[in-house]
Amino acid sequence: MIRTKTNANKNLQNARIIRYDVTDSTNTRAREYAKENAPDSPVVFIAEAQSAGRGRRGRSFDSSAGAGIYISFLMPVGDRQKDAASITANAAVKLCRALEEFFGISAGIKWVNDIYVNDRKLAGILAESVLSDSGEIKYYICGIGINIFKREFPAEIREIAITVEEIIAKKPDKAGFLNAMLAEFLSDEDEDFIVEYRKRSILIGEEISVYLFSGESFFATVQDVGDGAELIVKTEDGKIKSLTSAEVSVRKK
Ligand code: BTN
Repeated sequence: MIRTKTNANKNLQNARIIRYDVTDSTNTRAREYAKENAPDSPVVFIAEAQSAGRGRRGRSFDSSAGAGIYISFLMPVGDRQKDAASITANAAVKLCRALEEFFGISAGIKWVNDIYVNDRKLAGILAESVLSDSGEIKYYICGIGINIFKREFPAEIREIAITVEEIIAKKPDKAGFLNAMLAEFLSDEDEDFIVEYRKRSILIGEEISVYLFSGESFFATVQDVGDGAELIVKTEDGKIKSLTSAEVSVRKK
């Protein structure tokens, strides 16, 4: 696929980047910043450690000091409304490209927000929105956490997490990768990302368990990813469903 990283350098030079040694959560910092400053261009928040790193569905995200990249992009919505699923899907593709170009890592995407290598989770994405007083979406926050250095993970994720260091079997250049990532993320919009998202999906064709936020759950087979990053599945009784948000896991055969 032909892809151009348009304006990456210009955007990188102009970007406002706010760094912390430790903060609660870069997504929370981005939200507070949006409310206080109402910026009209993207702002990037980067922390060496987070004391309250957040994942999807209220889970915590292990954010040990210096061990990973913890970064959030605050993006004004402007006149083109998007949705959190597309923001997440676009970020997942950009992150996979940066991992491949910088480290030679070939990563897959587990719908909608997880980056996987060798059946283990390398990174997660948490997209949130900031609303105006009248309830319109004013900003998107796209928070990304990547496991860079090898470490002892908390027991509940020890069996599923992986780090860049384990994959490339040497000490990763974290600062170099952060710059490569910024160039990828601050390049101008790539409308074709969903094609690459599908190619990198590790779920298409798989039998999965689906857990809806309503509490309902069912088994299904993944057919495709739609143009709006929705997961298209076929249930056991043959119905086609389009999921815009849910928790899914691959069924062990
Ligand atoms: C997930 O795995 O469910 C998503 C994890 C997202 C973690 C990142 S780290 C930077 C940003 N700040 C947070 O509190 N969360 C995101």
